Amino acid sequence: MTITLPAFTPLEESLFLTLCCRVLDNRSAQPILADAMADEIVRTLDYDYEALHISTDLMLNATLRAKKLDEVTSRFLARHPNAVGLDLGAGLDTRVVRLDPPSTVDWYDVDLPAVASARERLIPDRPNAHVVGADVREPDWLDAIPSGRPAMIVADGLMGFLSQDEFVSLLNRIISHFPGGEMVFNSYTPFTIWVAHHAPGTKTVADLVKFPGFKDPHEPESWNPKLELIEEILLSRDLAKVPSKLRLYYRLQAHSRSWSRKGTIVLHFRF
Ligand SMILES: C[S@@+](CC[C@H](N)C(=O)[O-])C[C@H]1O[C@@H](n2cnc3c(N)ncnc32)[C@H](O)[C@@H]1O
Repeated sequence: MTITLPAFTPLEESLFLTLCCRVLDNRSAQPILADAMADEIVRTLDYDYEALHISTDLMLNATLRAKKLDEVTSRFLARHPNAVGLDLGAGLDTRVVRLDPPSTVDWYDVDLPAVASARERLIPDRPNAHVVGADVREPDWLDAIPSGRPAMIVADGLMGFLSQDEFVSLLNRIISHFPGGEMVFNSYTPFTIWVAHHAPGTKTVADLVKFPGFKDPHEPESWNPKLELIEEILLSRDLAKVPSKLRLYYRLQAHSRSWSRKGTIVLHFRF
């Protein structure tokens, strides 16, 4: 059965770029995420993913970073089975299905109201998985999230669409809401922000990118004294499933931290 969604704004529509990267990964010879539900969603919507002209490099970056975010999150949930998990700007990502957290974890997928409604139509309900339709820049939505438990915060592809002030105040609100936890998000340097503005693969979102980027992975520690960098994860160092024609490039990149930072970076913090 095909489902037709109400028209999204260009900002909401950005979810299809990452979703379709996961679809292409699922159809590749050696999938990194093997997200069959992403594929099913795109088929149900009869979405024309070919119109996005997704390159192999973009697909790899989006799926490798999602895998890293999954791994960090999964380790945290294993250590804190009473945790609250938040996926900020979740789009139609099926992370909660991939992670399959125990029913003692409460998981919240947060996105703008139109996207939240679409999630509810397309992604089957799970016990203790909740969808929140809200603009993360607004303060009120956090009131509905339990506050006395360790929290794992994931933001995959959100940061670029917020200004630095918006992102910093979002992190500060989250940090003061919970007793402690971890957060993991893909980050941008000024160079990768420049690339997002100019690369053909991200043409559909170029005008929506507001974040300026920062070079030093420790910079967020200056935004809130509770934030402490656990790890800067460079995707060029995870080559197991990279197709051989791109592996040499990634392998060369992996030798240099500053060159690796010209690609996708995942930052992992505790607070
Ligand atoms: C590139 S998509 C990534 C979606 C998802 N995380 C994924 O990996 O497929 C960015 C998402 O951020 C959401 N978003 C952007 N600004 C937002 C805001 N202010 N509040 C809530 N969601 C927002 C968009 O609606 C979109 O779903």
